[in-house]
Amino acid sequence: MYEFAPTADLPKAEIYRELAAAAEALTAGEPDGVANMANVAALIWQFVPRLNWAGFYRAQGRELVLGPFVGKPACIRIAFGQGVCGAAAASGETQLVADVHAFPGHIACDAASRSELVVPVLRGGRTVIAVIDLDSPEPGRFDADDARGIEALAALVAPRI
Ligand code: SME
Repeated sequence: MYEFAPTADLPKAEIYRELAAAAEALTAGEPDGVANMANVAALIWQFVPRLNWAGFYRAQGRELVLGPFVGKPACIRIAFGQGVCGAAAASGETQLVADVHAFPGHIACDAASRSELVVPVLRGGRTVIAVIDLDSPEPGRFDADDARGIEALAALVAPRI
């Protein structure tokens, strides 16, 4: 059994430090990328409040394919350039969307999603191998601190997935 419990009422930066420390400990020495993505998705869900979906899409050619996640069943394949996840994959840049209804081409996998943060996982600093997607039922849920926190997590897991 693994006991990684977020401390209550922590400042946001501290939540992400604890999340990264838990992810580091849980994935260290484990070569199976699927197992590592599954545990990291579970940790995001546990540490980051007010989400309705958290998980991975993996890059296969110019397409994203659903990976381990927590939340409702989701779209399985997303072309690079399509929706928020596809924009992150095509650009290699974090997408922070305060209102998904205002994002052209947003893919509504879960009708409850109102805001979204998608961070590319880069190998060699350039090649997008996956994206980490966080959805919230609250509009404007994510800010630059969330983006930095998930970007740090993406850098940590990149060699382990
Ligand atoms: N809303 C995403 C699709 C993935 S689901 O939210 C899990 C998008 O527009 O890329």
